[in-house]
Amino acid sequence: MEIIIAKYSGFCSGVKIAVELVEKNISNNTVTFGPLVHNQSVTDYFKRKGVDYIESPEGINNKTVIVRSHGVSPEVISKLEAGENTVINGTCPFVTNVQRIAKNIIENNKQLIILGDKNHPEVIGINGWAKYKGIIINDLEELQGYQQDQDQDLKLDLSKPIGVVVQTTFNMEKFHTIISKLREQAMDIEVHNTICKATNERQSAVRDMAEKVDMVLVIGGKESSNTAKLTSICKSLDVVTYQIEEAKEIDPSWLNNIKSVGITAGASTPDWIIREVISMVNELNGQEEVKGEEQENAWETIQAAFENKTALTAK
Ligand code: F3S
Repeated sequence: MEIIIAKYSGFCSGVKIAVELVEKNISNNTVTFGPLVHNQSVTDYFKRKGVDYIESPEGINNKTVIVRSHGVSPEVISKLEAGENTVINGTCPFVTNVQRIAKNIIENNKQLIILGDKNHPEVIGINGWAKYKGIIINDLEELQGYQQDQDQDLKLDLSKPIGVVVQTTFNMEKFHTIISKLREQAMDIEVHNTICKATNERQSAVRDMAEKVDMVLVIGGKESSNTAKLTSICKSLDVVTYQIEEAKEIDPSWLNNIKSVGITAGASTPDWIIREVISMVNELNGQEEVKGEEQENAWETIQAAFENKTALTAK
């Protein structure tokens, strides 16, 4: 059986920055704002080292608080500072860029559309920088529903200037579909495609890989937005797809009559889990080496993560 690893998989640069910040500030007085990444193994790893997470700034005093890569609203930062906390900003630079653009759109008296999931912390933070004036739309149906529902607090007036920003992990195809529709209707629209490079690379790499395999394993946390998108891309390509968080979730029967397996991982999936999954698939297959035309690139990516001085270990 052949195993092909997607050319771009696992920890992105933004997550690496946030992980490094926590590693440098390990202490029982350090907390992260929300789980550092949407991956239980990483959360558990830091908990064992004494770093827990908080969900709200209320009642938090005299701590070192690390803002994770998703970022937070200015109100959250002010409340944390008011509590005499030391705030370390681990917001991914790509997310900071979206926050800045969203803020400018509102300051220029334009309507703001944020393409993304209204419940995702990154989108909540971006909207905070835009004084909560963003109209948040996740798909074409929501756009149409929004236009038909006259009772919305924020009205979308297509005859007036509109600025659009996008959640960094948004699905690229969905982005193009919604923007084409908006461009047909809006009189004056500026579009900022703020989907980040890492998302772009992972989504294109998974498409390339999925076409060549019988089955795909997508590794990542159940709450991870970018992992969910990798899974939905594979499913849309009609390839048998399983999303798992850990190697032990692999059901050996999945490999029956499978000649080639593709492996990819969300941007919040640590290197050790990717390696465990590869080992497990090899073990179930009675094989020792990874084969596949993209093997070289993929191994370089994973090995680089292992060699990184801050690379985590499972223990
Ligand atoms: Fe940043 Fe993109 Fe990763 S926004 S945290 S580089 S998925």
